[in-house]
Amino acid sequence: MAVDLLLGLQWGDEGKGKIVDVLTQDYDIIARFQGGPNAGHTLEFDGIKHVLHTIPSGIFHKGAMNIVGNGVVIDPVIFQKELDNLKQFNLDIKSILLISRKAHLILPTHRLLDAASETAKGKAKIGSTLKGIGPTYMDKTGRNGMRVGDLEFSDWKEKYRILADKHEAMIGFYNVDIQYDLPELEAEFFKAVEALKELTFIDSEEYLFKAQKEGKKILAEGAQGSLLDIDFGTYPFVTSSNTTAAGACTGLGVAPNQIGDVKGIFKAYTTRVGSGPFPTELFDADGETMGRVGNEFGATTGRARRCGWLDLVALKYAVQINGVTELMMMKGDVLSGFKKLKVCTSYNYKGETITHLPYNIEAENLTPIYKEMEGWNEDLTKMTSEDQFPKALNEYILFLEKELEVPIKIVSVGPDRTQTIHR
Ligand code: GDP
Ligand code: IMO
Ligand code: MG
Repeated sequence: MAVDLLLGLQWGDEGKGKIVDVLTQDYDIIARFQGGPNAGHTLEFDGIKHVLHTIPSGIFHKGAMNIVGNGVVIDPVIFQKELDNLKQFNLDIKSILLISRKAHLILPTHRLLDAASETAKGKAKIGSTLKGIGPTYMDKTGRNGMRVGDLEFSDWKEKYRILADKHEAMIGFYNVDIQYDLPELEAEFFKAVEALKELTFIDSEEYLFKAQKEGKKILAEGAQGSLLDIDFGTYPFVTSSNTTAAGACTGLGVAPNQIGDVKGIFKAYTTRVGSGPFPTELFDADGETMGRVGNEFGATTGRARRCGWLDLVALKYAVQINGVTELMMMKGDVLSGFKKLKVCTSYNYKGETITHLPYNIEAENLTPIYKEMEGWNEDLTKMTSEDQFPKALNEYILFLEKELEVPIKIVSVGPDRTQTIHR
């Protein structure tokens, strides 16, 4: 059985958590393949709002197995807090959540290094979530990292000490003022590691291979979005992993020819949190309205998200890179009440009109060119089928499908599980 993928196509926060939760009823296994606690995936059902960071978004469904894959980076301290938040749901976590031995560990000093690096960058900072993501992936590719599987060996604390001491020396090189109490952070870390060790560690690539052979349905859950991809995103203002389809192969050990549907999620407009170029960003009342109505505040850091019109050039690029086979449009309800909507269909790049994403999309080189479309006034949040959609919304959807050459299979009209319309 092929492995389906679910990926964010913009700068993250497209609504992946919600949709994975909605789709889990059709799957046996939900597997996260990259990122870590920089992610914040929100789920809403039965009047409860829940934010997950490292734990896959299938966790609330009876019968679904949840896997944290080898491509994920885990902070035991944050993981512990996530588990504590789940206690109220009486889930048998040990039997529904499995962790890859090859997943890397975020140490307290990785977080400190993240802070030191960002402080040293000053104005050029990435706007990182400061969860230690970059430094942990650097240790992974530098072949210095600690993995979950190391915790099963008696010498793990020695390995830890060597790495943490090295990090402390590195923090010194940054020559910035970072205040921290390492013994306190370490006490918290060691405690959380003991709790993590209570969970089930597996060789996840082997587990998934067998599951595929047995005909189990697997959905790989991405974190962040394609424009934050380390290779294809708006570098250097990106995260440190491959958020695109290929990342699911390396982050889970699934062969490329085993990938089935590639489900791409996008918001009906665009948001971005942190630094970096954003061609369609709005600095006016429209942007303010999107942020307010869409409640655009980061699920992990609480920071206000920057808002702007939909950028079809960037979206097309993401569709291509990922080989998207079906689309999901989120938060259409937030656009209700706009008299006119704008969609960026090309860029003026150094005086030339282009329809692809160029190497550099900083504002000094590029201005977006828009198509204006009719808005709609109707409240979408209580709609239950496509037949109820206002004409202007249907036109918006049909225009996007034509431009992107991929069907929009789901239109989300609110944060709740039930506010999901299948087309
Ligand atoms: P993720 O990181 O991709 O999982 O997305 P986040 O959870 O960070 O951000 C998406 C936000 O939008 C969350 O607060 C969701 O509850 C909310 N949301 C998801 N879909 C919709 C929708 O269709 N309409 C509205 N109004 N909110 C939505
Ligand atoms: P989900 O999975 C939105 C952004 C940060 C910063 C850059 C690098 O919820 O969509 P990092 O902490 O990785 O060093 O930050 O990437 N970023 C996200 N933005 N959603 C996310 O995850 C993000 N994870 C990281 O704001 O600009
Ligand atoms: Mg998020």
